[in-house]
Amino acid sequence: MPWKPIKLNDGCTIPSIAIGTWKMGNGQDPIDQVDQAISVGFDHIDTAQSYRNESEAGTAIRESGLKREEIYVTTKYSGLDGLDVQTSIHNSLKNLGLSYVDLYLIHHPRLATPDIPTAWKEFEKIKADGLAKSIGVSNFDESQLKILIGSAKVKPAVNQIMVHPYVISQQAPTISYARTHGIVTEAYSPLIPITHMPGGPVDAPVDAIARRLGVTPDQVLLAWTKEKLGGGVVVTASSKKERLEGYLNAGDIALTADEVVKIDAAGAAGARQLTAKKLLKRVAASFLVGAIIYILFHLDELPKVLGT
Ligand SMILES: NC(=O)c1ccc[n+]([C@@H]2O[C@H](COP(=O)([O-])OP(=O)(O)OC[C@H]3O[C@@H](n4cnc5c(N)ncnc54)[C@H](OP(=O)(O)O)[C@@H]3O)[C@@H](O)[C@H]2O)c1
Repeated sequence: MPWKPIKLNDGCTIPSIAIGTWKMGNGQDPIDQVDQAISVGFDHIDTAQSYRNESEAGTAIRESGLKREEIYVTTKYSGLDGLDVQTSIHNSLKNLGLSYVDLYLIHHPRLATPDIPTAWKEFEKIKADGLAKSIGVSNFDESQLKILIGSAKVKPAVNQIMVHPYVISQQAPTISYARTHGIVTEAYSPLIPITHMPGGPVDAPVDAIARRLGVTPDQVLLAWTKEKLGGGVVVTASSKKERLEGYLNAGDIALTADEVVKIDAAGAAGARQLTAKKLLKRVAASFLVGAIIYILFHLDELPKVLGT
């Protein structure tokens, strides 16, 4: 199961696969799901203020009996209820029942208010106060990372962004910029080709590789993501024990360079189709709006046009 831990730019170490609590909901279900993930071998839990289940994650972590240093916990500042960063981290720690988190992220650049440098100073204070071992960002693009690095005393340790074959060409500059500056990329939603875009061009190469290796398509996508990050973290999820075990085993899958290229090419083709579809929708919408405006301005001529 070589999902090897990764060294961050601040000297801390991060497990390279995480289980996320985004869609787990509240109550006993997320407790059971986090507990299940820990019991199959996951030691990195990714949660956020806005997922509203930090306390359930905390309960599962406590019930696991693991020592604090045996589990890696990420949470995020999501600007929940309009609360400021310092109040939010204290609330998150209280919810989780922890005295520190391993990683604290700005969930989205729009939450970095009044601007990125000012918000980041609050994050640097959190690290200095020992409330988070590492600090980072999420959903930042290259230009936003540039602004951050331009003013930061402490560089962000990670940038958590969406990575799957249909967005890899769009995300490549951000991943490459991050790598140049020693920022680890965390890839969330790597299974979108299966969960949200089945039937797309990526299916054929992924299914063929899955058949060749006797593994599942989700395992192939995780192996591809690991390969593309080349030293990053994959953030995924599952409510099913068997799948979770499969995710961990996917760390052993070695794709050939040709297979990686085939998935890349299929992803790029799918991205082009999506762009064309979006463009077509926009053209159709503009045409519709134009037609409505024309009709509104020529209402009096309508009976003539319709021959009535
Ligand atoms: N920073 C951010 O803005 C951000 C945004 C989104 C997500 N995240 C983080 O990333 C985590 C994972 O996100 P995600 O859920 O989008 O990840 P994902 O890895 O793309 O998808 C996980 C889902 O895939 C389903 N799945 C796996 N294999 C499948 C198969 N063969 N057929 C059908 N469904 C399959 C699982 O369903 P089953 O339960 O049925 O197995 C699970 O719900 C989140 O929980 C969160 O922690 C962060």
